[in-house]
Order: sequence, then C-alpha cells, then structure tokens
Amino acid sequence: MVENKKVKIINLKTTPSTNLEATQCGHAGEPHGTLILAEEQSSGRGRLGRAWVSPPGKGLYFSILLRPKIKAENSPMITLAAGLGVLQGLENLQIPSLLLKWPNDILLNRKKLGGILTEMVAKSDQVDFIVLGIGINVTTTPEDFGRELSSLATSLTLETHQAWDRQEILNQILPTILAEIDLLVNSGPMQLVERWNRTSGMLGKKIRFHFLNEKEEKEGKVLGLEGDGKLSVELMNGEIVGLIAEDVTLCS
Ligand code: BTN
Repeated sequence: MVENKKVKIINLKTTPSTNLEATQCGHAGEPHGTLILAEEQSSGRGRLGRAWVSPPGKGLYFSILLRPKIKAENSPMITLAAGLGVLQGLENLQIPSLLLKWPNDILLNRKKLGGILTEMVAKSDQVDFIVLGIGINVTTTPEDFGRELSSLATSLTLETHQAWDRQEILNQILPTILAEIDLLVNSGPMQLVERWNRTSGMLGKKIRFHFLNEKEEKEGKVLGLEGDGKLSVELMNGEIVGLIAEDVTLCS
C-alpha cells in the first residue's frame, strides 16, 4: 500500500491485530519505524480491552514499531503526540470539526472516527519498544459498527458524504505522526503540551468520568494537559484532580 524507502513496511491482507504483529516484530529485533498495515483485522484491539471493528478495506489499520530513547514513565506522551500527528494530517486533507478526546480518541462531529492503542515493552525503567497502533474508520458503515456502537462511532465517508482513498490518508498522516514522535523524543514534552492544549479542542470542556476501579461518576471542567500526560480537571466542588488513563465523556 505504501511506498517508502526509509522504513520497513509489512503489508498484510488479514491479521488478528497489527499491534500483535508489531509486538512480535519488536521481540524479533526489527528496527524503529517498522510499519505493519492490514486490509482487515479479525481481532482488532481497542483500549481497555475493547474490540476495534476492522472490516476489510474499509479503514486504516496500522501499527508502528518505535524504539524511542525515553523513560517508561513518559510513554503516555507517545499516544498524545500521535494524536496531534493524526489531527494535523487529517486537517491537511481539509477535514473540519475534528477533536482529540484525551487520551486516545479522534472525534469527528463528536463521534469516534479513530483511536490509538499504545503498548509498551520496557526493561527496568527504559522503554525497549513501543507499539503505536492506529485505526481510522474510512468507509465503515453503521452496519459494520453494529447496534451498540453505531450511535457513537463514525467514518470519514459517513460524515463527509464523499469517497476517500485510504492510501492518500495514510500518506498525509504518517509523516505528521512520525514528525510529532521525533519532536517529542528530541525536544521533550512541554512543546507538545502547549500545542495539544491549543489544538485538541478539550480545553474548558465539561466532562464526565469515573476513576479507574471506582464506580461513582464525576463531572468536571478540563483545565488542560500536564507535562506527564495527565489531564487536569476541576471537579464541581473545586477540587483539582489529574486523570491518568480514565475513559472520559464530553458533556459540552
Ligand atoms: C481505541 O480507541 O480504543 C484504540 C483503537 C486502536 C485500533 C488500532 S487498529 C490498528 C491497531 N491494531 C489493533 O489491534 N488496534 C490498533
């Protein structure tokens, strides 16, 4: 699908999950930047143990093997950097009304267009490798999503009523993703935090969430991203908390 001489590209017709393939590549010593693409995933994986709907030829399903020289504790920043890269690439294609929902969702018209699943293998406190998995719904239909998801998820074609070329989308987003990762590794997280806060669309939004391992739902206002990847939120009672990896819902 992609022509790029600098990175190793593995094109697959079908696979359980490109993240799984990339993890095997990581253990096998494949180099930084190895890209695994699939036409279809039979067990596409999402965050928090969810499935990722991956019908043949209807979405972009790919994983990039990264060997960044960063501490394991900074790995959540990779997801945020990749999100910024996806946003820039899609905006270059003149797609409006995009929003990055912390930590890993790409929303279009408030529905889920894409997601990022980052998985890390570390040796003590240093990253050995990171698998950055990205899924974008291109021509996926409500029937593909199924009843439960169809009110929450969307695709480029569903929202823009036009045909999209997956290759063209990949050609746009891959360089912007890799550039963001490079910037993060070479310049640290602060430049990313400032741009994420300015462009994600999350700042000042009212959200609902519950802390991991807690049932009670809380509501608050987004104050912004912190340098460690946490989302700072002011609760209704004025208390300020930092979310680590919670699932959040936008209310406003
Ligand atoms: C999420 O929003 O929960 C993350 C979804 C990530 C999906 C992509 S598709 C390519 C890669 N392979 C997977 O199995 N998952 C990621």
